[in-house]
This record gives sequence, structure tokens and C-alpha cells, in this order.
Amino acid sequence: MKTPSMTRRDFVRLGAGAAVAGAAARATLLDPPALAAQTGTGGRTIRFVSIGTGIRGCDLLRSARKVKNGVLVGTADLYDMHQKAGLEAYGKNVPTGRDYRPLLDRKDVDAVVVAVSDHLHRHVVLDCLAAGKDVYCEKPMSHTVADGFAMLEAVQANKRIFQVGSQRVSNIVYKKAREIYASGRLGEVTYIEGHTDRNSPSGAWVYPIPPDASAETIDWKEFLRDAPQRPYDPVRFFRWRCFKDYGEGLAGDLFVHLLSGMQYVSGINAAPSRAQSSGSLTHFKDGRDFPDLLVTLYDYPGATVSLHCNQNNAGGDQTIFYGKEATLAISGNTLTVTPQDTRPQPEGYSLNGWTAEAKKQYLNEWHAAHPAPKASLGEVETYAAPPGYDDTADHIANFFRAVETRQHVTEDEVFGNHAAIACHMANDSYFHRNVATWDEAAKTIKV
Ligand SMILES: NC(=O)c1ccc[n+]([C@@H]2O[C@H](COP(=O)([O-])OP(=O)(O)OC[C@H]3O[C@@H](n4cnc5c(N)ncnc54)[C@H](O)[C@@H]3O)[C@@H](O)[C@H]2O)c1
Repeated sequence: MKTPSMTRRDFVRLGAGAAVAGAAARATLLDPPALAAQTGTGGRTIRFVSIGTGIRGCDLLRSARKVKNGVLVGTADLYDMHQKAGLEAYGKNVPTGRDYRPLLDRKDVDAVVVAVSDHLHRHVVLDCLAAGKDVYCEKPMSHTVADGFAMLEAVQANKRIFQVGSQRVSNIVYKKAREIYASGRLGEVTYIEGHTDRNSPSGAWVYPIPPDASAETIDWKEFLRDAPQRPYDPVRFFRWRCFKDYGEGLAGDLFVHLLSGMQYVSGINAAPSRAQSSGSLTHFKDGRDFPDLLVTLYDYPGATVSLHCNQNNAGGDQTIFYGKEATLAISGNTLTVTPQDTRPQPEGYSLNGWTAEAKKQYLNEWHAAHPAPKASLGEVETYAAPPGYDDTADHIANFFRAVETRQHVTEDEVFGNHAAIACHMANDSYFHRNVATWDEAAKTIKV
């Protein structure tokens, strides 16, 4: 999922806009040197292979080209054109084929980037871990709660580096937000809101079927693996997000980014105790299993979180942290901190029912008891990533660095599993038309 960067001109306008609104404004373009992806660590070269070189796999390879301490040494994909597209994306000829297993047998491979459809994450990741490889696995970590725990246990049993691919966890804007949140400047944050809304067929996964797609150019059997068996169906292969057998709809596709960003900024690393969803399928009635509007309210430790994704209105992407002292809003790759006016104020509204005499006395006493407040509010602060900023490159660089140093990553199997569980709870609540609760002891969702 791409987050738009602002241009320098947008950024200057934004600072001026905040100043016009009455508060002092400070706009900071975050420092490109934070793009560790441009430099690499300068140490060992990480030799990696990519499994799944479709839409995301190719994007990952385009970003991985910028990360100098990693080198692609092989790819695998079930669809012939995607194999070629992967090599094109990286700009290098390496061995490719349909079967990923021979890649895992290679002793010269350190790490694997997994970008297959969600229902295959568990199979592919378990095979990678059993072969002793470190793994970057695309989001959402799991297709089911059981898959998530099987993967978590395997990562820990094999003592491997494992990073889930919600790239905003390595995004410099989210890092800044996390720093501000941790400083306590927002005051107590009890409510967090997020949405990703778009209004186009592509935004609702109605992807075109490539003209050469067929049962000959695609290994359909391997795509299904242990999903319910059915004849070759290109709609299911290319639009797998729409179907429960392979994807998780809006929750697994888009909530997971909002949840990962929320967990990263707030430091909440837990499954929600409760989720309640509503929504509807009104426009994209093309045989899909999932709604095109999903709204979920979550109870997290210390905060209520409200998310929605709408495929019928281009409301954009935003996460807002509402604190007692300030509001922090992240919109695309721009972050704004707006202070709350917490200066003491004399009562106004309810004095409408008081007599002039009583009102005067109250106000005189109030002003006598309260010294003049500070003349102005704190500054509205804005931070943005530079134009062209690529958080996926930073996320890959972070993974390669961990493969080299063996230092833990933030978006590990526990973090990724928590975000995925919240996605599954949203869907369970929607489909069962009931509240979904998380049973930590039983590691299951109750609806
Ligand atoms: N982080 C992000 O912003 C982001 C964006 C898009 C997709 N994703 C995630 O990336 C993953 C892939 O999504 P996509 O949009 O690229 O889907 P896609 O259908 O375009 O690509 C998936 C590819 O995986 C291949 N594949 C499936 N099973 C395989 C196997 N056993 N061996 C080899 N190849 C196999 C398929 O042939 C296909 O080409 C999903 O988990 C998705 O949720 C993440």
C-alpha cells in the first residue's frame, strides 16, 4: 500500500495554513539520512530469495534494489509472467521457477522474502524456518489464529529472525510519532481512530486478469494447496483478497496496516480484549465473500480503537491519537501534533441560565482566583517524509540488518501475531454479528 509523500511546496503551504488558523506552526521535513536503506550496514552481504513475485513481491524487489547490503539470488512464483516480472523488478537474472523448495535447500541463502497470498503464509514460512532461513513475511502474518501461533512457535523454536511486512513500522514518520507519544506530550491517550478509504475498482481489488493467464501458465494446484479444492479460476487466483479461502478482506488487507502503525506508535503489543464490527457489501457484489465497508470498535489495554475501511469513498488514510494534552494525526506520510487548549477557562455555557448579577459575581471571583493564562497555545508541529520516501526499503534494510546482527526486530512474530489476531476478530464479529472476545489462555477468539 503506497502512502503519498508531500512535495516541498505542499509542505510550505501546510505550515502557513496552521499559522493562519491561529496557533504558531513549525514544519519539519524529516531527515533523509534516516533512510538507512540507501547505505546498508557496510558489513556482510545478505543473500536472499523471494517467494511470490506478484504485485507486492515485485514492489519489494524494486525497494530491495536500493538496499545495498542485500543481494537477490533466486525467486519462485506459481505464475510464469510473475516470474519474469520479478526479475525485471530487481533488474537482474537469477534462477527462477515455480517450486520454491530447491531455493531453501541452497546453503548460500541466508534469508527469504515471502510475498505469497495470505493462506499460504503458514506453509511457506514453516518450510523456510525448517530450512534454517530468516524470514520477512508479508502482512497480515496469518490467515487464521491457528496459523499465527504455529508460525510464532516455529520462529521461536528455530531461533530465526522473523519480520512481518507492515512497512509503516520502519517509516520515519511513524518513528517520529512513536518518539512524541513516548515523551508523554500527548497526555493520556484513551482513543485512537484510523481509516483507509478508497473509491475505485482497483481499491476494491477488481484487478484485471492478464491475457496469458491459464491453467498452463499457473500452478493452480499448488495455489490451492490445502484450501477447498475447485477447478482453475483466474478470478480467485488474481483477486484472492475477496475470498475467505485465501484472504481476510478489508481486515487482513488494510486494517492490519492501521493496527501495526497503532501498535508501533502507542507501544501497545497485545491482542484487543474485544471487537465489535459492522459494515455492508453494497457496491462490489461480484461474488466476493467480504464487505466493501468494515467498521470495528476495539477494546485495547488503556485505549479504545475505532477503525474503518470503506471501498466506496476516497477518504484516504489516517490514524489519529487523541490525547488529553494534544492530538497526533498521521495522514499518509505527514504527521501533525496539535496542542489541546487546556488553559483554565471560566464557565460560559451554563451561565446562560444565571442572572446578570450572579454571573458578574462568579466571573469576578473566577478571575481573582486565576492568574492570566499564557497568551498563546503551544505550536502546531508538522513532520513529513521527503518526496519519494520509500518506507518499504527501510523495512527491508531493517530486516537485513537484523539478519546480520541477530538483533531483534520490532515487528516480530509476537507483534505481527497480535495485529493479525485483531484482524481475525474484526471478521469474526462481522460474520457472526456478535461481539468477538479474545481468550488469551485458550489462544482463541470467542464469538
Ligand atoms: N505490505 C504491503 O503494503 C502489501 C501490499 C500488497 C500486498 N501485501 C501482501 O503481500 C502478499 C502478496 O500479495 P500480492 O498483492 O503480491 O498478491 P499477488 O497475487 O499479486 O501475488 C502473490 C504471488 O504469490 C505467488 N505464490 C503463491 N503461492 C506460491 C508458492 N507456493 N510458491 C511460489 N509462489 C507462490 C502467486 O503465484 C502470486 O504471483 C499478501 O500477503 C499481501 O497481503 C502487502
